[in-house]
Amino acid sequence: MTKVSDILTAKGGNIHSIEPETTVYDAIAKMVELGIGSLLVIEDETVSGIITERDYLSKVALKNKNSRDTKVGEVMSHRIIYLTPDNDVEDVMAMMTEAHCRHMPVIDSGKLCGLISIGDCAKQLSQDRQTQLNYLTEYIADNYPG
Ligand SMILES: NC(=O)c1ccc[n+]([C@@H]2O[C@H](COP(=O)([O-])OP(=O)(O)OC[C@H]3O[C@@H](n4cnc5c(N)ncnc54)[C@H](O)[C@@H]3O)[C@@H](O)[C@H]2O)c1
Repeated sequence: MTKVSDILTAKGGNIHSIEPETTVYDAIAKMVELGIGSLLVIEDETVSGIITERDYLSKVALKNKNSRDTKVGEVMSHRIIYLTPDNDVEDVMAMMTEAHCRHMPVIDSGKLCGLISIGDCAKQLSQDRQTQLNYLTEYIADNYPG
């Protein structure tokens, strides 16, 4: 059973964040620069929301708002689903699909310790399947030599 902690061991616990008073333009510029699709919104060390590419598309671009005049706090999503390092990755995929969200922060004993995306889960599960396949292939080859 692969856990969220396995993903964090591979990618690290770094969390990219932004403050709610920052403009959406600066948030999008930061996401593009870092090559990521979300930023946790943090003010005074407290998480107040998350802003993603989808928030920009639905609440700024489609509403004809100007990203330079709109603050992150006005369009961020307030509902955040937290994970723990012990969560099973297959369960997390199901949670992300159900909740229509692709980024979830991880909390351990009340402390933020990372953030994972649906892409991280897909990559981890695909690696697990490959490892399993390699093991079975070697097992069969050893037991039924040609
Ligand atoms: N082929 C597939 O099965 C599949 C599945 C899901 C996503 N994708 C695609 O893969 C690409 C990447 O998607 P993604 O789901 O990984 O999202 P993403 O581009 O936001 O994430 C890229 C990486 O950055 C990290 N990241 C994102 N926001 C972060 C933050 N605020 N703090 C710390 N780390 C952060 C993620 O954990 C991930 O490791 C997208 O183009 C997506 O469409 C493909």
